[in-house]
Amino acid sequence: MKKALLVMGNLLLPAEMDELEKHFDVIRLWKERDPEAVLQERRADIVAIASFHYVPVSKTLIESLPNLEIIAQFAVGTDNIDLAAAAARGIPVTNTPDVLTEDTADTGMALLLACARRVCEGDMYVRIGKWLNGPAPLGVTLRGKKAGIVGMGRIGQAVAKRCSAFDMDILYYGPRKKDVPFQYFSSVPALAEAADVLILCCPGGAETAGLIDGPVLESLGERGILINIARGSVVDEPALVEALEKRRILAAGLDVFAHEPHVPEALISMDNVVLLPHIGSATIETRTVMGRLVVDNLLAHFNGHPLKTPVKV
Ligand code: 8YV
Repeated sequence: MKKALLVMGNLLLPAEMDELEKHFDVIRLWKERDPEAVLQERRADIVAIASFHYVPVSKTLIESLPNLEIIAQFAVGTDNIDLAAAAARGIPVTNTPDVLTEDTADTGMALLLACARRVCEGDMYVRIGKWLNGPAPLGVTLRGKKAGIVGMGRIGQAVAKRCSAFDMDILYYGPRKKDVPFQYFSSVPALAEAADVLILCCPGGAETAGLIDGPVLESLGERGILINIARGSVVDEPALVEALEKRRILAAGLDVFAHEPHVPEALISMDNVVLLPHIGSATIETRTVMGRLVVDNLLAHFNGHPLKTPVKV
């Protein structure tokens, strides 16, 4: 009999789902009309979870599955998973680092360019015929500006490389100084004060929740741009809405939100924001490799091989 695998969300591509079907009795939780009832009914069968950034893997869930052996996350970020609860049960967690670094950094640059050069507004300008009445409003140049990167991990470094190619100066904040040739700031407010652009590349979770608040946005200033490719939780969203409404900052480019897929109405109606539906890693190539890693980690576990990408706790 095949082992039961609980797949909590719908981001795995068909080829990887087919592969999982070959080895597991796959429970597609997101398709179930009554997911709670299915979890109750199958609780003793489930030995593995495939998880996604937008579905919590809570302590309650972990504790309710007596035979759970592994959680394989389809993302690098693991802030949706109660890692302590998994560790307490000795349940390994895997994620998908490295493979999504470049595409996620590209998404950050796409947002930055779109905000600075008013790309989305320009597109609309042409479509609704405003160009016929005169030239579009001016953007701002990136060249020579200071990019303040919050979180100089893999994605932060990939963003720094791209910003350098655009002749920007790189500054950064992180919990500790890294071996990188960029100016380090030990506090976010000080970084915001010095930078023209803040690009959020840090992990989500309790340690970074609300890191970007009203005073930080105030320090970024009225010519400042905020880019978030990290997690919605890193930003105090109501404070961001207020800062944009009152033009305390110039613009924001957001791939992530506090309550995805819900985006505040206020942001939707603004012209100084660019909004994306959490597509940091969303290319066919990267999502394929991420899915492959989920499959490989699950198979490695059940075949008694070392995990490909275990999360260190
Ligand atoms: C993914 C991400 O698009 O990997 C992460 O942590 O936020 C994104 O790159 C998303 O998580 C897919 O599940």
